[in-house]
Amino acid sequence: MNLTLKIWRQRNISDKGKMVEYKVTDISEHMSFLEMMDVLNEQLVSQGEEPVAFDHDCREGICGMCSMYINGEAHGPDRGVTTCQLHMRMFNDGDTITIEPFRAAAFPVIKDLVVDRSSFDRIQQAGGYISINTSGNTQDANAIPISKHAADEAMDAATCIGCGACVASCKNSSAMLFVGAKVSQYALLPQGQIEAVDRVQNMVTQMDLEGFGNCTNTGACEIECPKGISLENIARMNRELMKASLK
Ligand code: SF4
Ligand code: FES
Repeated sequence: MNLTLKIWRQRNISDKGKMVEYKVTDISEHMSFLEMMDVLNEQLVSQGEEPVAFDHDCREGICGMCSMYINGEAHGPDRGVTTCQLHMRMFNDGDTITIEPFRAAAFPVIKDLVVDRSSFDRIQQAGGYISINTSGNTQDANAIPISKHAADEAMDAATCIGCGACVASCKNSSAMLFVGAKVSQYALLPQGQIEAVDRVQNMVTQMDLEGFGNCTNTGACEIECPKGISLENIARMNRELMKASLK
């Protein structure tokens, strides 16, 4: 198929940036979206032009790097997939595709489609972990009973890959689905209880410091999340925060 691409080009963090139009031809419907971008970049390099910078790593829906806003949707028109898992068969010959970076004040654009998501790292560093006492008296994890329901819900929350699609899709640029998932994966397990109060307070404080907006229950984040993270995690995080404030 032959396509017209309208892509956000921005030289650096202080450049104003603009949309630039490109044509690509003979794109196979079996290609992934990133493979189509590779074709464009090879074309640009052979013409002596600067290739389009975009983030990617695993190319199999695991790392959360491939942050593209495609035709007005984070990770494009398919559901439950990241940009690297999006196939060109979702588009038609002759289509014009608009490609932008994830936009949020807390995700500044570094270059073209690459944004700085280190704000997520700082939220994780504020409490998204469990400290293990290695004094020699550490209990074998397999000896701690956990109900199947709690284990399943914790595992579901832990599937968040930190891609930031929830933030990019939210009219408030809220990170509450991400932070809710990261708080929930520990709040549901006995191992997470010891640091529960500090965890939720510190992570929410850092989230606010980074400049993310608040949640107004629109639900766009849940729809656009490639891992199907549920809004229930936001409610659980709010309950955890309320419990922590009473201690
Ligand atoms: S909650 Fe979903 S959309 Fe948000 S960072 Fe995690 S995987 Fe990505
Ligand atoms: S490149 Fe890793 S999730 Fe897309």
